[in-house]
Amino acid sequence: MDKLLDVISAEMKNAFEAAGYDRELGKVTVSNRPDLCEYQCNGAMAGAKVYHKAPIMIANDVAAGCADSKVFSGVEAVNPGFLNIKLKEEFIGAYLKEMAASEKFGLESPEKPLKIVIDYGGPNVAKPLHVGHLRSAVIGESIKRIARYNGHEVIGDIHLGDWGLQMGLIITELKERKPELPYFDEGFMGEYPEEAPFTISELEEIYPTASGKSKEDPEYKEKAMEATFKLQNGVRGYRALWNHIISVSVADLKKNYENLNVEFDLWKGESDVHDVIPGMVEYMKKEGYAHESEGALVVDVKEETDTKEIPPCMILKSDGASLYNTTDLATIKERMEKINPDHIIYVVDKRQELYFTQVFRCARKTGLVKPYTGLTFVGFGTMNGKDGKPFKTRQGGVMRLENLLNDINEQMYTKIMNNHEVPEEEARETAKMVALAAIKYGDLSNQASKDYIFDVERFTSFEGDTGPYILYTIVRIKSILNKYRALGKNVEDTDIRKPQGEAEKELMLSIAGFISMMQNAWEEMAPHKVCAYIYDLANAFNHFYHETKILQEEDEEKQAGYIALLKLTKEILETCIDVLGFAAPERM
Ligand code: ARG
Repeated sequence: MDKLLDVISAEMKNAFEAAGYDRELGKVTVSNRPDLCEYQCNGAMAGAKVYHKAPIMIANDVAAGCADSKVFSGVEAVNPGFLNIKLKEEFIGAYLKEMAASEKFGLESPEKPLKIVIDYGGPNVAKPLHVGHLRSAVIGESIKRIARYNGHEVIGDIHLGDWGLQMGLIITELKERKPELPYFDEGFMGEYPEEAPFTISELEEIYPTASGKSKEDPEYKEKAMEATFKLQNGVRGYRALWNHIISVSVADLKKNYENLNVEFDLWKGESDVHDVIPGMVEYMKKEGYAHESEGALVVDVKEETDTKEIPPCMILKSDGASLYNTTDLATIKERMEKINPDHIIYVVDKRQELYFTQVFRCARKTGLVKPYTGLTFVGFGTMNGKDGKPFKTRQGGVMRLENLLNDINEQMYTKIMNNHEVPEEEARETAKMVALAAIKYGDLSNQASKDYIFDVERFTSFEGDTGPYILYTIVRIKSILNKYRALGKNVEDTDIRKPQGEAEKELMLSIAGFISMMQNAWEEMAPHKVCAYIYDLANAFNHFYHETKILQEEDEEKQAGYIALLKLTKEILETCIDVLGFAAPERM
């Protein structure tokens, strides 16, 4: 379906042309004076210079020609030359009726869908997920869903941090504690135990301990580096231990991401490209892209137009070890070979922006990607506490994601039990859904690149620009539809009609903006546009609801029209929260 603004603009362009002016002047935008009109066109102002005429004269000519329009109920020329536009009730009713009957409410899929890899989540194994990982998961999941809804083929990859020194540290600490384990016996030839020699809680304690020790004790650090080296070079016992670390850690991560309603298609990690690295390095050397600098191997990535210094991209350290860069580049190489995406998107903390500039330039320069392969860095800001500093526990420590979720679930549960008489089990489930909406909406309603304040009280409120308010609106609609059904009437039998009053028309205009909003949210990879849209839509609905007797309406046809509009509103809201990554309960 054509976007509403395009349909209106086409009508206005015809009017300009019919009045003898360039049709391109007829572009229409949403009114920035909603008290005066619904849409506006400023083309007469631009035309004044071309036609050496006062803009108001042009506007008058165009307005006069709109009298018989099937789209406009009123086009008014006002000084100095604006065209203030209102839409015909029949037109907007018919447009919505078509939306309601169309797949994806009329949002068309591209003729040639893009193949997209989205790299998000990025947790490091053996370290508990903390709030720092929340944003990547929440924003990445939403961008993935928005791209999919727009008709693209999208593959989400978690890109685990599973290969660096952190693994060597864990192995070293395990060796200190349990040297008798067969993994450390070089002569051991048998099968290693199936069971891991640690639990997730032990693992989560081992890593920080080891990391602390290595900072104080150079000898310990030396051991950890050696263990890393042995692991990466395939020492059997170390590999077996590493497999245990991965499986224990991944099982825990899966549980955590599931609670967040975040789902990855690929659970690949840095380790997966270990074997890709030697060939890639050889190629970069042979083609003359990489050169030695102070013992390290680097690729220069600075460009003439740079206004700030972009340091070279380091491929190998002077001791020959690979780095974070190396695994990211090798991952690009592997993705191109195995998946061949048109576009790779990274959702990572914005403090890594320079790093990704280096990686992207290096990938382009060395031909790892095609010249037209899109590489996009979506950098997000920090989640701060009310004090404006990075979010911490009350004791000032790093907040585990699990604890944060549990806290908010608990608060929501109490709120729901206090408010209503919902059975306990249902209240538990509902609390989880509302809490997730609170957290995700609280995050996503901000432009991703900005820092934001994680304000639990505000996010969990049922009023205002919050997730729970949106859910509340959906639940309210569900309840009206259920009552309509209880009267023995069929919701599916209803049809959208022309609006009966101002509030209904406003709600309809809000719905009509869905297609362009959804396209725009994808083009700009901006979930906050979806949030802003549903907040307006929910407000428009609640306004309409307070102004209108729906279930008491005696005119059956009128009532059926309202019901059809409610159903469409609900479906659009549900679609939007689904791309944001949460869902609404039946009641709350
Ligand atoms: N594991 C990394 C970190 O904790 C984030 C990974 C981001 N993705 C990537 N392809 N580099 O900083």
